[in-house]
Amino acid sequence: MTTPLKFDETRYQSAQVTIDGQVLRYRAFLGLDYVTMPVDAIQQLNVFVPEPYFTGGRVNGYTRVTAPIFMPNTVGGYLPGPRDFPGNQESFSRGATILQALVRGYVVVSAGLRGRTSKTAQGEYSGKAPAFIVDMKAAIRYVKFNAGWLPGNPDRIITNGTSAGGATAALAGASGNADFFETPLQALGAAPATDDIFAVSAYCPIHNLEHADAAYEWQFNDLAEWHQQRYTVVNNQAHRTSLSGELTATEQQLSNELKSAFIPYLNHLELKDHAGNPLQLQADGAGSFRRFIADYLTASAQRALAAGTDVTIFQGVKVNNGRVASLDWSAYLRGITRMKRVPAFDALDLSSPETSLFGSRLIAARHFTAFAQKHSAVPAQWADASLVAAINPLTYLTTHQSQIAQHWRIRHGAVDRDTAFAIPVILATKLQNLGLDVDFALPWGRPHSGDYDLPELFDWIDNLCR
Ligand code: DHB
Repeated sequence: MTTPLKFDETRYQSAQVTIDGQVLRYRAFLGLDYVTMPVDAIQQLNVFVPEPYFTGGRVNGYTRVTAPIFMPNTVGGYLPGPRDFPGNQESFSRGATILQALVRGYVVVSAGLRGRTSKTAQGEYSGKAPAFIVDMKAAIRYVKFNAGWLPGNPDRIITNGTSAGGATAALAGASGNADFFETPLQALGAAPATDDIFAVSAYCPIHNLEHADAAYEWQFNDLAEWHQQRYTVVNNQAHRTSLSGELTATEQQLSNELKSAFIPYLNHLELKDHAGNPLQLQADGAGSFRRFIADYLTASAQRALAAGTDVTIFQGVKVNNGRVASLDWSAYLRGITRMKRVPAFDALDLSSPETSLFGSRLIAARHFTAFAQKHSAVPAQWADASLVAAINPLTYLTTHQSQIAQHWRIRHGAVDRDTAFAIPVILATKLQNLGLDVDFALPWGRPHSGDYDLPELFDWIDNLCR
């Protein structure tokens, strides 16, 4: 009898591409089940392995048993994130990332994950929270269960993703082996293995959702105008339209309340800067935590300036004698503008991706904060607080209930307004305060996006693994 979920090394397709004049040969193992009782066709994964590993060869100093296992996901907007492959023409695809990872000698595992719009044949929702992370963990368990059969080092798993996918990557890193997910993993027939991982690469992770509304208003309370880009696909062509408007008086009032709510939350976290000094906020919203973020932005501007970028095209940035002399917080924010209305995530009319994420088998969308439930514009239910906490990486950093990845690389663009800067800064700082290895930056001029610095990301991985 064959062992369920065992990786079969004999069923593959050979592929070859030329990148920068170099021929890259690899084997593709496509459409593998990673659970024995899937509920959605998306629950399969692809494995890509550099060809030399099957003939005793080396790539970038790695061998079949030492190569890191890179697990990028394609989740965006908390929608279903299908398994990916090089040459994939779909807009969500990170096929180029997979190829660059193979050039570096990594084994790449791309798993398809359910999302908030996934449905069963009977029309019930099957991908509401926590499905995305349950599937990610099941894929990780598949990889670890197949230690020795599947090429690569299962003690060197690195997740990677952008935005909601960055949140997925980060949550996998924070919540290793957490009890909360055991029952749903068993129900899918996940492989008998652990799901803690080595490292996380997260770009602009849209996470900490229950505090993201308050953080957003702490940052943008002064700005009544909002500016959005809407993307629509018509006849396979992407169209971009600009939308803007002004907060209503009611929204402005809600913004004031949310801003005030952020201050005790932040202070309660008891974050420390690199020298161990407390990071706090005063009642007016100013304070050492805000200066700490401004310092990250200033350092980012300084690096861009040194690389020859004109950083003064951004409002509030002053340069003097080749140094970034100052960054005016309010002016800088005015320049990058507010993107979202109020509340930014737990929308009062249940129209946001996040309220949809917190739907249930039979309910399209639910609130996930007491604040939005109280102010709801429509008849609405409220997701279980335990579920909301379970998909927040911060939960695992503030209460001991998981095995946390040792190494973290987090990037959030300096002009990204999809969530407040405070959100990634809290994550990075809490990890640092726990003594973990964190590489964090707010890359200058970068909007909401990811995988824009793959050479640096892969150098970071090589420094840890080679
Ligand atoms: C994403 C972006 C958002 O602004 C958001 O609220 C949720 C998800 C995304 O790009 O994945």
